[in-house]
Amino acid sequence: MITLGIETSCDETAIALFDSDKGLIGEAVFSQTDIHAEYGGVIPELASRDHCQKIIYIFRQALGDISLSSIDQIAYTAGPGLLGTLLIGENFAQGLSLSLKKPLIPVNHLEGHLVAPFLGGDKLDFPFLTLLVSGGHSLIVDVRNLDDYKILGQSRDDAVGEAFDKVAKLLGLGYPGGPEIEKMSYKGDPKKFTFPQPMLNSNDYDFSFSGLKTAVLYAVQDLDKMTDQIKADICASFQHAATEVLTKKISKALEDTGREGIILAGGVAANKLLREKMSNMQESLKIKVLYPPIAHCTDNAAMIAYLGSLKAKEATYKLNSHARPRWPLETK
Ligand code: KG4
Ligand code: ZN
Repeated sequence: MITLGIETSCDETAIALFDSDKGLIGEAVFSQTDIHAEYGGVIPELASRDHCQKIIYIFRQALGDISLSSIDQIAYTAGPGLLGTLLIGENFAQGLSLSLKKPLIPVNHLEGHLVAPFLGGDKLDFPFLTLLVSGGHSLIVDVRNLDDYKILGQSRDDAVGEAFDKVAKLLGLGYPGGPEIEKMSYKGDPKKFTFPQPMLNSNDYDFSFSGLKTAVLYAVQDLDKMTDQIKADICASFQHAATEVLTKKISKALEDTGREGIILAGGVAANKLLREKMSNMQESLKIKVLYPPIAHCTDNAAMIAYLGSLKAKEATYKLNSHARPRWPLETK
């Protein structure tokens, strides 16, 4: 069975084809980061316009020489995300459904991130914990089964990816900020600045990143002058503080739940220091840690096509809109 996946929830126009026997057989992604870079964040209207222009080309590129008639069903991201961009993916999916006479499966983008590590054939037995860290979310999720999720903890303010992006912006680095901060960190000393690790000792699994971001702002304001070396030291110290909180909270959740596996998902899962800390945990706690390849950590349609293949029973020919800017993971 071949599932076409469509992802347009934010600033990536992505299409992929997943074959239940052969795995991923086609994939194309266009990232709009250059369009939004000068604004230091995603501009929804510009994002929608660009999805409109690119989606047909990305579709053709993903399809390659696979025939249209071999597509069995169409899965698309229905939320959470920007309403305007979600509607473009949904309309494209509905048009294809009508013309090809194939059913549709609207799926949750966050659930896509949760299953992304399995795309390459890696296995992890249920139940396990997922640390889902992106530009819009910082969640610790207890994954008991497909469709059976419990959010154990989440950020009370900024998502961790958002904090990376905002800190990068105040240091005058490029967008998205995560990879820029990571690059600068290699030249910096993580001990030069002592930034707070918010909520580290709170007796729950929640995060807060806005205080950490403000501490960086104050440190910058206190400087007599900024140099490249100081910038690198700030990046390394910020990255150290952010990844420490993530690692310690997930390790507390592991200890309390007795789960034996973790999945690291979402754009921030591309961060090498975070991966290194999770790998160390794998050895010290004798647990299994899975991470998707970097291309499938950030937004992509492969995870949407794969999730659609797991939800084939939900496919319908109904053309009503399912686009939802907010769609908490625990709700249907
Ligand atoms: O999952 P994603 O592509 O989109 C959302 O659904 O948000 O995540 C994007 C976020 C951005 O905030 C970006 O700065 C962050 O992931 N990110 C990183 C890295 N690569 C991307 N953060 C830290 N280190 C990285 N290497
Ligand atoms: Zn995402």
